Amino acid sequence: MASITIRNLDEATKQALRERAARNGNSMEEEVRLLLNELNQPQPFRAVSSAAEVEPHSIDTSGLAGKRILLIIGGGIAAYKCLDLIRRLRERGAVVRPVLTPAAEEFVTPLSVGAISGDKVFTDLFDREDEHDIGHIRLSREADLIVVAPATADMMAKMANGHANDLASTVLMATNKPVLIAPAMNPQMWSHSATQRNRVTLANDGIHMIGPNAGEMAESGEAGIGRMAEPMQLVEAIAKLISPIAEPKPLAGKRAILTSGPTHEPIDPVRYIANRSSGKQGHAIAEALANAGAEVILVSGPVAIPNPKGVETIRVQTAREMQAMVEASLPADIAIMVAAVADWRSADEADEKMKKENGKGPDSLKLVENPDILKGLGHHKKRPSLLIGFAAETEKLEKHAKAKLKRKNADWIVANDVSPEGGVMGGDRNTVKLISNSDIEAWPTLGKVEVAERLVQKIIDHFDVETLEA
Ligand code: CTP
Repeated sequence: MASITIRNLDEATKQALRERAARNGNSMEEEVRLLLNELNQPQPFRAVSSAAEVEPHSIDTSGLAGKRILLIIGGGIAAYKCLDLIRRLRERGAVVRPVLTPAAEEFVTPLSVGAISGDKVFTDLFDREDEHDIGHIRLSREADLIVVAPATADMMAKMANGHANDLASTVLMATNKPVLIAPAMNPQMWSHSATQRNRVTLANDGIHMIGPNAGEMAESGEAGIGRMAEPMQLVEAIAKLISPIAEPKPLAGKRAILTSGPTHEPIDPVRYIANRSSGKQGHAIAEALANAGAEVILVSGPVAIPNPKGVETIRVQTAREMQAMVEASLPADIAIMVAAVADWRSADEADEKMKKENGKGPDSLKLVENPDILKGLGHHKKRPSLLIGFAAETEKLEKHAKAKLKRKNADWIVANDVSPEGGVMGGDRNTVKLISNSDIEAWPTLGKVEVAERLVQKIIDHFDVETLEA
């Protein structure tokens, strides 16, 4: 563990620390401990120490439209701010359903809160009508978010310790929705070790917090940290929690081309050469790539499964059509050739249905080789930077797969056993080995969706390393 010796700090830092410690009546060591402790406080609970630190109206609040907020108003002087809060939330299209604690009723009336919210005000756990009508469980579940404002020291203590003896605390225990609290109390109560302990417990329980702010208290002569966050700060915090900005996806900006399923090679208008591929594995990979943010073009042979979500799917019949669509979709960063392309097609596709003449069939069926799509990409001038093939084998899996990797100039081969005992073709599970020039990774038997997700994670890691190395 690292250790810091105050003596070794630079002079300016030491002086600043000395002054801070003197101001707070602490030794320098105690002051360092306090600073480290502050740093260690969970982020959502960082107290907004001055109104100046808060950037007003910097967050898009349009996501509040149509959202349902259960507002639990606690018993503190700051309860009056909730009237403004409700008005501002409703202006933005949110539906606010208020719950008043018995103590809150000393500060605001159900009548005024009801008039501003335009909804029924809930006050008593044992109100027979309310319990019959909606019930505390439904009350807690029907909201998108629960806000407690003001959250008094008593309310925080109850929440931290799991009390459920009135409507507000019962709703808070019963909910499965995010909870945001806006503490408001006297600065001494806020800094009391019991409140601070509760604050940490609540943070660890995943409760979000805004404020309290620093400033004058309602009681004359009292100032410090304990003022409830202003209504607009609360509106912004609520908007942020309800419609959080989506994290950028790991493969955003990457383009992928996939093939999937079998191909059908016509012999005549009603007969064709095909194989047992279901398309399940290729389609699952396409969807997993799209979920990871990639732009995905899937060229699929004839399959009986639906197109994957978020993917541009092009349906084809033959290997030649598949190749044409793959090459027309270049350039791409990633190409994964999962299709079980028919290796051969009929040399002379009959225009009319072939007839049995006097009980005689054709002497033979002449076949010609189909183009190898993967190999074509491997040697293409627009070769995708990550080229992945599949190797469906019934024997000597690793040997054949390695040979294919080389012959087709691919980066990775996902090799799978397609012997009839393997049950891969058409089944839902797959046992594969991921083979590159430098490595062979044997994966356990997994569902095809799991194989897809694992492969996509490998692709994400591959591009992460590439970015780091660039
Ligand atoms: N592949 C392709 N075009 C073909 C044949 C295969 O793109 N005409 C691709 C498959 O999609 C797969 C890889 O090449 O990614 C290996 O396919 P596989 O059928 O296992 O191998 P083949 O090259 O056909 O060799 P063999 O039939 O001799 O095993």
